[in-house]
Order: sequence, then structure tokens, then C-alpha cells
Amino acid sequence: MRVLFVTSEAHPLVKTGGLADVAGALPLALGRLGVDARILMPAYAGLLDRVEVTGPARNLGEVLPNVRAQLVPARDPDGGRQLLLVNCPALFERPGGPYLDEHGHDWPDNFLRFGLLGRVGAMVAVQGAWPEWAPDVVHASDWQAGLTPAYMSLLGARRPVTVFTVHNLHYQGIFGREILPMVGLPDVLFSIEGLEFYGHVSYLKAGLYYSQFLTTVSPTYAREIQTQMGGEGLHGLLSNRAAHLQGILNGVDQDDWNPAIDPHIAAPFSADDPSGKAACKAALQREMGLAERPDAPLFGVVSRFVEQKGIDLALSVISTIVDNGGQIVILGSGDPGLEWHVRGAAGAMPDAVAARIGYDEGLSHRIQAGCDALLVPSRFEPCGLTQLYAMRYGTVPVVRRTGGLADTVIDVDEASAGTGIVFDHPLPSELIGAVRRTVDLYRTPDAWRATMLNGMRLDHSWDRAAREYLGLYGEVLHAD
Ligand code: ADP
Ligand code: GLC
Repeated sequence: MRVLFVTSEAHPLVKTGGLADVAGALPLALGRLGVDARILMPAYAGLLDRVEVTGPARNLGEVLPNVRAQLVPARDPDGGRQLLLVNCPALFERPGGPYLDEHGHDWPDNFLRFGLLGRVGAMVAVQGAWPEWAPDVVHASDWQAGLTPAYMSLLGARRPVTVFTVHNLHYQGIFGREILPMVGLPDVLFSIEGLEFYGHVSYLKAGLYYSQFLTTVSPTYAREIQTQMGGEGLHGLLSNRAAHLQGILNGVDQDDWNPAIDPHIAAPFSADDPSGKAACKAALQREMGLAERPDAPLFGVVSRFVEQKGIDLALSVISTIVDNGGQIVILGSGDPGLEWHVRGAAGAMPDAVAARIGYDEGLSHRIQAGCDALLVPSRFEPCGLTQLYAMRYGTVPVVRRTGGLADTVIDVDEASAGTGIVFDHPLPSELIGAVRRTVDLYRTPDAWRATMLNGMRLDHSWDRAAREYLGLYGEVLHAD
């Protein structure tokens, strides 16, 4: 079976969040099951120099009005992933990130940049743009790839089947109607039965409407997005499509996130011999300038600073953590106001509170390895990966009962196989209660150790998720 992944990021090439982790790991896991998977993504600045180009580029001509592009076949040197890169320097060769410029503003031509990605996806899928390789399944993710199924609906008689995965319903790719001719889409698609959403064009709705099957990244989030509260205005469409919507939990890349072999951390450890974790904690306290106290419960946060993640809630429990003899390390970036508050908290209590504003893959591993507990107080969370990494690293997650957090963390008071602390509502008072319970558990060493080991022994490998996707592809192909 041949599967084309259309995505705007993939670890280890380009990453802003969990989508990259999934888009990097799932094709490899499917590869282990015999699937021939390729990743179609933009050739962002410098990417062509970081991959092995495996053949000549193919000129695709004018893909969108006045936008010419090439397809470049490549392999990533780390994992051997097969890539097809959309090369269009005018749109992708620039500083900043995949979606934002250096000042944190959306690129004003994102509609064109991801319109191009979507269009090339459809050309590979249906029009033989890469003639030696025609996919059976096109698997697109999030709004950035949402137009692929829409273009496909307009093209060609024999089409591969389409699966669309929602990693986050909050980001929708909404643009004015006037962009339609610029991305070469006819006006007839601008309809409630199409990609129109409250008078605008929605790339996410295009993906949801024109794909044969929809998935999201946890069973609970699959239910939440069908409700008015969690549906971000799309619950009607999603509940209509409930028979073609499934939640499949993400996995953990067992090579990238394995404390026994992790090159980023101070000492290796495992469920069989967790002793190295103490050295990781001491090293993290030193690195972050915290007092080197082995007995202080050390909390961590690794997150984008956006409303979704409840960073404001995490800030509201810092004094509780410190008053209870604990410490906290925060790594992340995003909202400038939150960055300012996080810096301020670290400046006020440098022995107990440490912050690093920015993106740092190595430090994210050292926080997972060195902390005792990880705070994930999300308002909503489609799946969440940091709590899975935490459990693998013997770090007890403290999470809100929502989306994938609810599906992956068992509260210690609810089962002997408990793996973390779970609270219900995104309120400071509830998070304060959860932090107090965490500190009490930490000060009960046998119970703490049992909780750590329960988490470390869980199997969240990608092989399980890949088998579920493979089964799904088979069903959709059969139904076609
Ligand atoms: P989301 O995709 O919503 O950001 P996830 O929990 O699914 O949330 O995935 C976040 C991913 O991004 C994880 O791999 C996490 O370690 C990583 N990450 C988030 N912020 C940072 C940061 N500042 N530095 C390094 N890694 C980060
Ligand atoms: C999104 C979600 C996150 C999920 C990730 C990967 O970014 O916010 O919960 O884990 O995608 O699916």
C-alpha cells in the first residue's frame, strides 16, 4: 500500500509542536508494517541542504496563478523517511518559522503557501505529478493540508482515498473569499456544502468536508469536537460525519524518547534501573541555576505559550509549589504577556523557579528526565505528547481531564495502576489541589515510586497506532 502524507511539519526536519512528532513517526511505523509511505511538505529555508536529495527535481510549471514550483525527491539522513519537497523559494525560502515571521506574526500569504502545498498534494495524488509513484491513500493533516482533498474532488476520475486528521480544531486557516481565484479554486466550492465557513474560506473545513474519512488524535477529543463546547463552530459537520470519524491515540517514538539511550540527558535510566534519574535531576537543577536539592519536588512545563495550554494556571500555582518546598522549570514560548510573567516569576525566586523562553529540543528532554512531575493544565488537548514522554521518563504527569490527557493518564486515587494526578476543571483552585496531592505523594516514597514505574512500563509505541491506521486505510479502500 502506498500512502502520501501531506503535512506542514515533520520531526526532525521542521517542528513547532506535536504534529511534527506524529508526521515524523507515523510514516516510519507504517513502513515497519510494509507500507510505502512518503511525506509531502514544503522545502522551507535551508531544508534542501539538510536532506539527501535522491533524484532530479521535477518542474511542475505554474501550479497556482503566477506561482511556479518544483517537486524534489529526498530522504532525511536520520530516519530514512522518503520525502517529496515542494520547492518554491518565493514562498518558502525566508527566515522565521513555518507559519510566523520573526516577529511572531502570521505570514500574510499563508493562504498561498499552504494553498500550494494542498494543490501539489492533489497533483501527486491524482495527476501523476510524480509518475513513478501513485498513492492508494492520501493522508492529510490539519488546515495547512486541508485543500488537498478539495482540489482532489475537482480532478481526475480515479482517485486515491482520502483520510484527514485533525490534530487541533482550534487552528482553522480562515481567509477572505477573495483568495479563491488566487489559489485557483472555483466559486462553486464556496458553499455551506463545501469550504465556506461563516462567510469566509476555511481550509480546515475543506479538509473535513472533502475527505472520505476523518480521524483525530484521541477517542475523547473525537467525542468533544462533536459538541458545541469543543466543536469550534464545526460540531454540526463533525457530528454529521460521526460514522466516518475515529479517534486514534498518538504514540511515542521509542528511539527519540527513551531514557536508556537518550543522548541529551546526563545519565541513562530505565524502569528496571531508575537510579540514573537522580543524576538527571541534579544536572537540570545546575543547568537552570536552581538550588541543588535532591529532596525538593521538581515540577516542569514544556509547552507552547497559548491559551489552550493553561500556562496562566501554571503561573498561578508557582507560589504553592515554592511554599511546599518545591521547584519549577518552565520551557516554552509564544504569547509575549505570558513570556513576561514567566520571566518575572523566575527573576523573583531564582533558587526555586527557572525559565527558558524559546524552543530547545535538548532541554525538553532534560526537563522530562530531570523533573519529578510535569504540569499539563490544558483547557483542551487533542492528544498531548508531553505527558506521554513524561511517563516514559518516570516523571509523574499532573493533567487536566480533557481530550488525550484523559485517555492516557490514570489518577493514582482511581486505580492501583495510577500513573499521574488528574483534575477536572481549568481553575487555579483545582490545580492548587492537584499540586498539593502531588507533593504529598512525592513525600510517600513507595507510592511515588510505584506511580513512576506504572508510567514507565506503559506501552505507547507507534506500532499500535500504525496498526490502527493501517486497518482504517484498508476499510476506507474497501468501502470505495
Ligand atoms: P502541541 O502539539 O499542542 O504543542 P503536544 O504535547 O502534542 O502539544 O506536542 C508538543 C511537542 O513540542 C512535544 O514534542 C514537546 O516536547 C515539544 N515542545 C513544545 N514546546 C517546546 C519548546 N519550547 N522547546 C522544545 N520542545 C517543545
Ligand atoms: C496538536 C495538539 C496536541 C497533539 C498534537 C499531535 O498540536 O494540540 O494535543 O498531541 O497535535 O497530534
